[in-house]
Amino acid sequence: MLAWECMAEHEFIKNAEELCALAPITTAPIRHHVFVCSGKSCSARESAEVKLAFERELTARGILMGQAKKGKNPKGTVVLTECASVGFCAIGAAVMVYPDGVWYAQVQAADVPEIIESHLINGRIVDRLALMRVPAEGSAEDSKTEATWEV
Ligand code: FES
Repeated sequence: MLAWECMAEHEFIKNAEELCALAPITTAPIRHHVFVCSGKSCSARESAEVKLAFERELTARGILMGQAKKGKNPKGTVVLTECASVGFCAIGAAVMVYPDGVWYAQVQAADVPEIIESHLINGRIVDRLALMRVPAEGSAEDSKTEATWEV
């Protein structure tokens, strides 16, 4: 079957209730979306371990949104996904937290409990790892966080 034939058979779903039933995440009280870069450079800096640490810690706290049969919480408040390179290649592993738009650099698995406790639970950005914030207010200076690094 050709791709255009598949598309012709695909029916656009207009009913919101039907859409929500097909995507249970729509009923979860999501507060944060955490992206962990799985690009080549971040992978070389053990980003897979960082993501596993997030999975482990968020699951233990019962706040990782996902299927119950996978040990996650369908009503969890945090979505965790991988993403492709975001340009922090030389300073990975990169972790981005939204909707706050905080981009963490040089994250290691050992840093994950602090990011969860401080940022995701208590709303305090982990300054020592936060390099920039998106969107910026209009200049490069505005996008910088209170990171203690010399930038
Ligand atoms: S590989 Fe992670 S930011 Fe480029």
